[in-house]
Amino acid sequence: MKEREIITLKSPGEIEKMRASNLIVAEIITMIRDTVAPGITTLELERICEGEIVKRKARSAFKGYRGYPYCLCTSVNEEVVHGMPSKRILKEGDILSIDFGVEYHGYYGDAAVTVPVGSVSDEAKTLIRIADTALERAIAVTRVGNRLFDISYAVQSYVEENGFSVVRAFVGHGIGRELHEPPQVPNFGSPGKGVRLKAGMVLAIEPMINAEGSDVAILEDGWTAVTKDGGLSAHFEHTVAITEKGPYILSRL
Ligand code: MF3
Ligand code: CO
Repeated sequence: MKEREIITLKSPGEIEKMRASNLIVAEIITMIRDTVAPGITTLELERICEGEIVKRKARSAFKGYRGYPYCLCTSVNEEVVHGMPSKRILKEGDILSIDFGVEYHGYYGDAAVTVPVGSVSDEAKTLIRIADTALERAIAVTRVGNRLFDISYAVQSYVEENGFSVVRAFVGHGIGRELHEPPQVPNFGSPGKGVRLKAGMVLAIEPMINAEGSDVAILEDGWTAVTKDGGLSAHFEHTVAITEKGPYILSRL
């Protein structure tokens, strides 16, 4: 097996360090979500975020990552992930996915939420609720002795039962001293397959859910992923440590 495919297990001490970075992520993402309202631009959210990172002496996990120029990913409506902050003004009825990560004292934290802007359609509300619940279902099976694709299956089965589709072009990931570590964590797959989950694994689980088809395209900016059919998309992510006592959601307040 190649070195880069080895899943590094974190000690309880390292998990506490990852809790610290993820708590910063949780605090800032909560602050940003509470600031979202019709009339604000996604660049204003970015500015607030930058200030909060500095205050906490953390470092953005995304800015500079493969040349990505911002601290936040702000994906609106049919944008799936990696939307970039801009002068776009959020309007009533939009949905906004906020993805955010930091590095603090050598360890990474990563999380995402999708929030309504003012009052939104019933379809948008349902999509957000199903995506959020899909992540909760995935976390519930993130346990010692289960297998990696039990997580994937938990997302896929729940989402498809509810008439939505899972994005296949992007996946969750291991996380620790790097933002992206092995293993990849797909949001689709067969139960009982994949590596066995062990105490000390830390995974960023991140279902991306589309209202219509699962296909995505990348815009000319080289980053923004959108649904091919223009349907709405929602994204939730938590960094989760596997412990003997069960899943420890590091990025929850
Ligand atoms: N949470 C996403 C991920 O894990 C966002 C990082 S992409 C970046 O891939 F390029 F913007 F950093
Ligand atoms: Co991630």
